[in-house]
Amino acid sequence: MSPEHFDGLSRFLLSRSGLSLTPDKTYLAEVRLTPVAKKHGYENVDELVAALSGFVSEQILNDVMEAMTTNESFFFRDEVPFDNFRKLILPYLHKARATSRRLRIWCAACSSGQEPYSLAMILDQMGAQFDGWLIDIVATDISQEMITRAKSGEFTDFEVNRGLPADLRRSYFREQGTKWVISPALRKRIDFRVFNLLDDLSPLGQFDLVFCRNVLIYFEPDTKATVLERIVKLMPDDGFLSLGAAETVIGVSDAFRLSDSGRGLYRPNTSMKRAV
Ligand SMILES: C[S@@+](CC[C@H](N)C(=O)[O-])C[C@H]1O[C@@H](n2cnc3c(N)ncnc32)[C@H](O)[C@@H]1O
Repeated sequence: MSPEHFDGLSRFLLSRSGLSLTPDKTYLAEVRLTPVAKKHGYENVDELVAALSGFVSEQILNDVMEAMTTNESFFFRDEVPFDNFRKLILPYLHKARATSRRLRIWCAACSSGQEPYSLAMILDQMGAQFDGWLIDIVATDISQEMITRAKSGEFTDFEVNRGLPADLRRSYFREQGTKWVISPALRKRIDFRVFNLLDDLSPLGQFDLVFCRNVLIYFEPDTKATVLERIVKLMPDDGFLSLGAAETVIGVSDAFRLSDSGRGLYRPNTSMKRAV
């Protein structure tokens, strides 16, 4: 791909999804976009990218964006955030929300659904403790394809053998041909929606806990800060934010501070919350 077309592609992705593409990704872009170019009748990737600045269908714009996003996810990824959820966050919120008996959780870039399903399994395992509570799990992603997959609750052999303990696989999945299908009860607990993190977040409502994992890593510093400053506005002062293992708010935004327990868990920085 010519440097000029690579620049055009970078600008397109930055404005559409926040993805920051570095020049070392030229080869990756060629590989990922070649099937998209073919599908839409373009001679090559240069021709496809040149078309992005003119009048092209939403389908083409979407296919380019989807081809360039990384959707890797797995059940109980990195373990620590799920340990935090089980051992710190839920016990805290169980006490703090004892009167309202209402919890709202948001997985902000849920990919094919392993993250919200992992949270739903933990909640289910807590059993009677949360009986009578109203618990919303909202799981969003910019990718329509990923949300459709997540909603289907279907996973491959490889996916259920990656991070998912065997006893949980037995309890919550049914083997169906070459697929593993998650239990309908668990699937019903999650509200999956297509949503772009660059959009106004306020229609989503308020959340006690936000999992925003392994997505900010693809954004430029300014975009990361803007998203964090919008997320904090969706939270009560005692809310929680969980980031990916390679992500931090430190040096990015003052909207959150590392929680006293550390371990990738953040709390709203209440003085900043009033200011931003
Ligand atoms: C690497 S996956 C992370 C999945 C999951 N959170 C995890 O940690 O396993 C990153 C996801 O972010 C999504 N994504 C990228 N840009 C986005 C945006 N602007 N708004 C919402 N989701 C986005 C991608 O579609 C992809 O599914």
